[in-house]
Amino acid sequence: MYRIVEAKHLADNIVRMDVEAPWVAKHCLPGQFLIVREDERGERLPMTICDYDREAGTVTIVTQTVGAGTYRMAELQTGDAFMDVVGPLGNPSELVKTPIDELKKKKILFVGGGLGTAPVYPQVKWMHEHGIDVDVIVGAKTKDLVILEDEMKAVAGQLYVTTDDGSYGRSGMVTKVIEDLAAEGKTWDVCVCIGPMIMMKFCCLTTKKLGIPTIVSMNPIMVDGTGMCGACRLIVGGEVKFACVDGPEFDGHKVDFDLAMKRQAQYKTEEGRALLAFEE
Ligand code: FES
Repeated sequence: MYRIVEAKHLADNIVRMDVEAPWVAKHCLPGQFLIVREDERGERLPMTICDYDREAGTVTIVTQTVGAGTYRMAELQTGDAFMDVVGPLGNPSELVKTPIDELKKKKILFVGGGLGTAPVYPQVKWMHEHGIDVDVIVGAKTKDLVILEDEMKAVAGQLYVTTDDGSYGRSGMVTKVIEDLAAEGKTWDVCVCIGPMIMMKFCCLTTKKLGIPTIVSMNPIMVDGTGMCGACRLIVGGEVKFACVDGPEFDGHKVDFDLAMKRQAQYKTEEGRALLAFEE
C-alpha cells in the first residue's frame, strides 16, 4: 500500500497529495506521470507528477474532481493509502534532457493553465535548481482556482498570473498574456505549455504566429499507460503516437488537437454514467 502522507485541499475541487512511493520518487523526472488505483474496484487514474522528494521517498500529485474516479480519490485523507502506484511512466521532459549549457543560452517560457500548473511546477523547479531563470505564465478561470502560486514564485525567474475573469493578477487568458508580453518586446526560444487541450490548442496557435517552438504535454484518456491498449492514441505530424509511451510531450505545432478533443469527448457519456452511479 502507498500511504498518503498529506492530503491538502488547494482550491475548489482540487486536492494535493504527498504519497509514499520511494522507488518512484527515486527514479522520476519532471514530465513523467503515474497511474494510481485506490482499491481493486478503483479506476486507473493517470496523474502527472507535481513534485517529488527523493529523501522522504514521496511523490506529489494534484487532482481535480471531474468524474467518479477522481471524486472517490478526493475523499481520501491523510493516512489513507492507494493500493497501486505505478510509475514513473512516460518520458521525462525534453528540456530536462537538454545539456545545461544549451539551456542556459535559451529564453524559456512555461505556460500552465488550470490544473496544468501542477506538471509545469517540477520543470520550473528543476530549471531553478540548475541555475536557469525562466518566465512562467499561470492562468486560471478565477482567483479561487489559482494553484501553487507561492511555490511557483519561489522558483520562477518571472511569474505572471492571470485569471479569465480578471478577479486576480492580469486579466484574460494565457494567450492574451503571451501576446501582450511579446508586444512589450519579450522574446522566447521555446515555450512549454500544459493545460486543458483547448487551452494548449490556442496557445499553440498563438506561439505559431509568433514563431516560438512549443512543447505540449498531452493528457488523453489512458488505461494501461504502457502502450498496449491504444486509448491514448493521438495524431502528431500525421503519424499515430501513444501519449503514454511516445509522450506525454509532443511538438505542439504538430498535434491534431481537434481529433484529440473529439476522442476525449467520446468517453463523456461513460464518465457521466459512472459519476451518476457514484452519487447514488
Ligand atoms: Fe494504453 Fe497509452 S494508455 S496505449
